[in-house]
Amino acid sequence: MIFWRVKSLDTILATAEKKSLHRSLGVWQLTLLGVGAIIGTGIFVLTAEAAQKAGPGMMIAFVIAGFVCAVAALCYSELSSMVPVSGSAYTYSYAVLGELIAWVVGWALILEYSVAAGAVAVGWSGYFVGLLNHSDLGIEIPFALANGPFAGGIINLPAVAICILVTSLLVIGTRESAAFNAVLVAVKIAALSVFIALALPVSDINHFEPFLPLGTSGVVAAAASIFFAYVGFDAVSTAAEETKNPQRNLPIALVGSLMLCTVFYLLVSAGVIGAVGAQPLIDAAGEGLAPGSTLMAEQCSLLAAAGEQPVVCSQEALAHVLRQIGWEKAGNLIGLAAFLALPSVILMMLFGQTRIFFVMSRDGLLPEVLSHVHPRFKTPHIVTLITGMVVTLTAAFLPVGKLANISNSGTLFAFLVVALTVMILRVKDKKRIRPFKTPAIWLIGPLAITGCIILFLFLPLDAKLVFPIWTAIGLVFYFLYGYRKSHVLLGIDTPSGGENLIEPIRSLADCDEGNGAKENNPAP
Ligand code: ALA
Repeated sequence: MIFWRVKSLDTILATAEKKSLHRSLGVWQLTLLGVGAIIGTGIFVLTAEAAQKAGPGMMIAFVIAGFVCAVAALCYSELSSMVPVSGSAYTYSYAVLGELIAWVVGWALILEYSVAAGAVAVGWSGYFVGLLNHSDLGIEIPFALANGPFAGGIINLPAVAICILVTSLLVIGTRESAAFNAVLVAVKIAALSVFIALALPVSDINHFEPFLPLGTSGVVAAAASIFFAYVGFDAVSTAAEETKNPQRNLPIALVGSLMLCTVFYLLVSAGVIGAVGAQPLIDAAGEGLAPGSTLMAEQCSLLAAAGEQPVVCSQEALAHVLRQIGWEKAGNLIGLAAFLALPSVILMMLFGQTRIFFVMSRDGLLPEVLSHVHPRFKTPHIVTLITGMVVTLTAAFLPVGKLANISNSGTLFAFLVVALTVMILRVKDKKRIRPFKTPAIWLIGPLAITGCIILFLFLPLDAKLVFPIWTAIGLVFYFLYGYRKSHVLLGIDTPSGGENLIEPIRSLADCDEGNGAKENNPAP
């Protein structure tokens, strides 16, 4: 029975013990790691989409999405401190819920990481195009070449270019150092602070009326999309094994980075609304137009021709708002910050993806060729190239909002499974040492699960449909391949989590500290 094909937690932990990474990360470094992974396209770009769905009520949407992530984060912390070999929900569920669910989770994580990488690339493209256009060079990239067909264009060439660049960097083994991550976090925080400082003082209270133009359902729908703005906090929990005093520092850093981002997001959205207004475009029936749709693009072009540029039409929302209120140069600087900082989010996402593929392949659930490591670069180059190609294709043709929603569908499922796993383990394995215990698990766990289900239900129909279709395709793959080749079935002892073969995700922020990551690179 495949549900009972589990990878024993003890085997996984034995691997972890052998590695015994140096516990060096304090609460600030961890929080910085979280903020670095969280702030990206969500706030810089999708604020426009949230406004289109909820109007000024998007402020509540940010709080709802932040809350769901916070309770999920608390569940993540318990598992990652208990099973610190791998940050992925895939490994946790393999140990607790069995191979089939683990496969579905791993397959869903492809949506989370790959599609999110595509979304961030498209978000970056919007800022790149705006920056070129508003720079002294005045270069204008034709709309058709900077937007995919769903948004009324042909192909998003800048997004293609950044995907190819980041994939190439990953193939040759580029990693972010802790110092570099800190610089990028500073750039992002500075950009958001400048935005808040310039936009809030010119706020007009009338712009907050009507507060809920599309009702409460609009707010929850916006929360389902803007959830994307918080994704990435799991980077903190993947560093559990390198954390000093994880019982105290992990939850502080996880919830702290989420709260810090929530405060920034609230102030930024208040700035957007107050400075220029954030009312959605509606059709004749009074319904909001779907963000990223051709209809919306047409409506925006008509408005632009008439000299109106509502923020909901902008692909570089924050820069756009500053330019609208007369801060042309500051708007360009925000654009520059996004241009510099967003590629590192793409890098993190793509890296996370290749690592999950890699681990699944080492478990025998995907073809072994995927886990081949390049002899010179010591990177899983084949899986990186395949992932990079898929991400490039999605970024080339799909709009940012659609990609973010699809990514959210997979992420919400993974978070739900994590919360479920924590609760099951509390019953099945009471005695196991838990360096961090989720407080009030019987409240937090169900809240996380309910929150994930509600947000999933409020995603647009196409994103909701992608998930079951994607899962069905995954199951076909599983029964054709992994079911028969599973190393657990065949009794082949594979290293859990694959950490001894490629560098773990945490090394993105920590590789220059020389602990663990560099030890983990032997040939396959
Ligand atoms: N939270 C990340 C972003 O907004 C994925 O780009």
